[in-house]
Amino acid sequence: MNAPGGVQLRPLADTDLPRLHRWLHEPHVLEWWGGEDAAPTLDEVHAHYGPRIRAEDGVQAWIAFKTGPDGAEQAIGYAQSYTAMGSGDGWWADETDPGMRGIDQFLADGSRLGQGLGTQLVRALVDRLFADPAVTQIQTDPHPTNRRAIRCYEKAGFRAVEEIVTPDGTALWMVQRRPRV
Ligand SMILES: CC(C)(COP(=O)(O)OP(=O)(O)OC[C@H]1O[C@@H](n2cnc3c(N)ncnc32)[C@H](O)[C@@H]1OP(=O)(O)O)[C@@H](O)C(=O)NCCC(=O)NCCS
Repeated sequence: MNAPGGVQLRPLADTDLPRLHRWLHEPHVLEWWGGEDAAPTLDEVHAHYGPRIRAEDGVQAWIAFKTGPDGAEQAIGYAQSYTAMGSGDGWWADETDPGMRGIDQFLADGSRLGQGLGTQLVRALVDRLFADPAVTQIQTDPHPTNRRAIRCYEKAGFRAVEEIVTPDGTALWMVQRRPRV
């Protein structure tokens, strides 16, 4: 049983896919997530996220959760991390640092936005990734008008570098380096 406390992360599992399907249809997620693949069917969720569960593509998928007073897991969102270099399909083609990881995330419950939960989630993921000594930097790429996400990422240690064009369109490239000890 887990102890109550902050946001934790565990790998996405097959049993999470119906829940993930439901989350991907929430209006606050649809607004900023998915691009052409927004509002997927359950079969499409299996096809897209299943390989991430089985570590068959370069993206690692996570469920963010808190632990309730009864010790039960309360899933609060989805996150993913990837190695930028060699992503393919036009993504991060100029990246030469094998230690650069990237992250994307959303909260499940639209009534809990803007209350600091996302910052906790991002910090937990950043800590998790920097626990690997091979990781030198972490990036994220919100839409330049997604001010809530940008502010959240700033609070979690990211700094805006520049606007870029990705295969999903214009993005604000934000980066944080491994903290010096
Ligand atoms: C992005 C997301 C994970 C951030 O989590 P969150 O819990 O809402 O963020 P936080 O509350 O930790 O931080 C948000 C900050 O933005 C501020 N903010 C909220 N709306 C804002 C707006 N329209 N303009 C500017 N700042 C805004 C909040 O006040 C807060 O800053 P503060 O603590 O200095 O007051 C969450 O909002 C989310 O899931 N959004 C929908 C999907 C999404 O956009 N995903 C990201 C794709 S890149």
